[in-house]
Amino acid sequence: MYLTPEEKEILAGSHGEAAKLAMETLVKIGDINGAERFVPIKNVHLVLHAYKSAFDAGVETAEKIAEMGGKFAVPVTIDPYGMDAEDWKGAKTPEHYAKQQMRLEAAVMKMGVIPNWTCTPYYGFTSPRKGEHLAWSESSAVAYANTACGARTNRQTAIVDIFCGIVGRTPLMGLHLDENRKGEVLIKLHIGRPLANWEYPALGYLLGQRLGARIGVVAGMKGSPTSEDLKNFCGAAAAAGSVALIHIVGVTPEADSTEEAFNGNMPAEVIVVTEEHIKETREAMCNNTTERVDFVALGCPHYTINEIVNVHKLLKGRKVHPNTAFWIYANSYALRLAEKMGIRQELEKSGVVFRAETCMIISPVKDWGFQTMMTDSGKCSYYGPAECGTEMIFASVEECVESAVSGKLKIFNKEKQS
Ligand code: F3S
Repeated sequence: MYLTPEEKEILAGSHGEAAKLAMETLVKIGDINGAERFVPIKNVHLVLHAYKSAFDAGVETAEKIAEMGGKFAVPVTIDPYGMDAEDWKGAKTPEHYAKQQMRLEAAVMKMGVIPNWTCTPYYGFTSPRKGEHLAWSESSAVAYANTACGARTNRQTAIVDIFCGIVGRTPLMGLHLDENRKGEVLIKLHIGRPLANWEYPALGYLLGQRLGARIGVVAGMKGSPTSEDLKNFCGAAAAAGSVALIHIVGVTPEADSTEEAFNGNMPAEVIVVTEEHIKETREAMCNNTTERVDFVALGCPHYTINEIVNVHKLLKGRKVHPNTAFWIYANSYALRLAEKMGIRQELEKSGVVFRAETCMIISPVKDWGFQTMMTDSGKCSYYGPAECGTEMIFASVEECVESAVSGKLKIFNKEKQS
């Protein structure tokens, strides 16, 4: 790789031991992947965030880099906390787990992380813009930054993201380059109306499975998806496949037209998606053997204030069924707004529990012994069964709320209604 004089100095150790190690590692990654040089980055988003996924090795590595003098050179945000940030004891977090989580927190804080603890850093913390280079790790956020914002980031991994933050650069490769952002597969959406809220994550899930790591171009999407629709679509696509970018014609800043999205490429495959395909995907996202619902989990990726307000409207002051846990996961930003609006207090009075700055997948939920989990999240439906040890029901938020109130499956389809 070509290195600037400053980069050579960093490599020689003049910026400290941690920066030297970071540069050595990134040069190796760049060389292996044929990068010609580094590109400066605006910010970084870390995934060394939860003891559940970092384990002891991750905690010790973060501590070691911090001890070596690792300091972030650009703004660095971080994925959800590994346990409820407001009430980890009430969330039944084991003591040892909590201790290790706090060690991890101390290490990344020492390096200068912005402790936003959320997988949606694009809401209010670092808002990506078209053409900006980033080094993000959280798969749903990577897909969102590339797809909804037109920013440029590969799917970084834990530790490599820390190193990018320390040197403020990433090797110029993958999705940082125009030639690697061209569409490869055409997706013809044959649904002549705007999608319903639950159809975005279902479509994302379906496309994730069909595309793998290839770049899709979705043509024919009606209406104008909200930012939450795109968040939920990207979260599902990035979980069910290795998707980091899907051009949505008319939505993605680099895809005003199908031609622009393919940028000279010919589609290697054409996938037609109809309403029936979305319904079939939804069925495949459920594996429940009972209609009893004892856990409703919303907020993967983290719920926004708009989504919390919507649940408040749907619940209309009714009580959650005593045999059902109804948890909403959100970052401190959305929670504070919900508090200021008074809706957090009202939802809690109804029996909703807010799990602060954490998530159902990377916090220890298995010990609760839930049997059937219901969610409106495509990403959660993908990981939930293994990570939470439950059966899974994927549904719309309206159906999730009604099921939380009745304690059993309520779906708005006559043939399946319980
Ligand atoms: Fe966020 Fe956790 Fe889902 S990190 S995207 S809430 S799995």
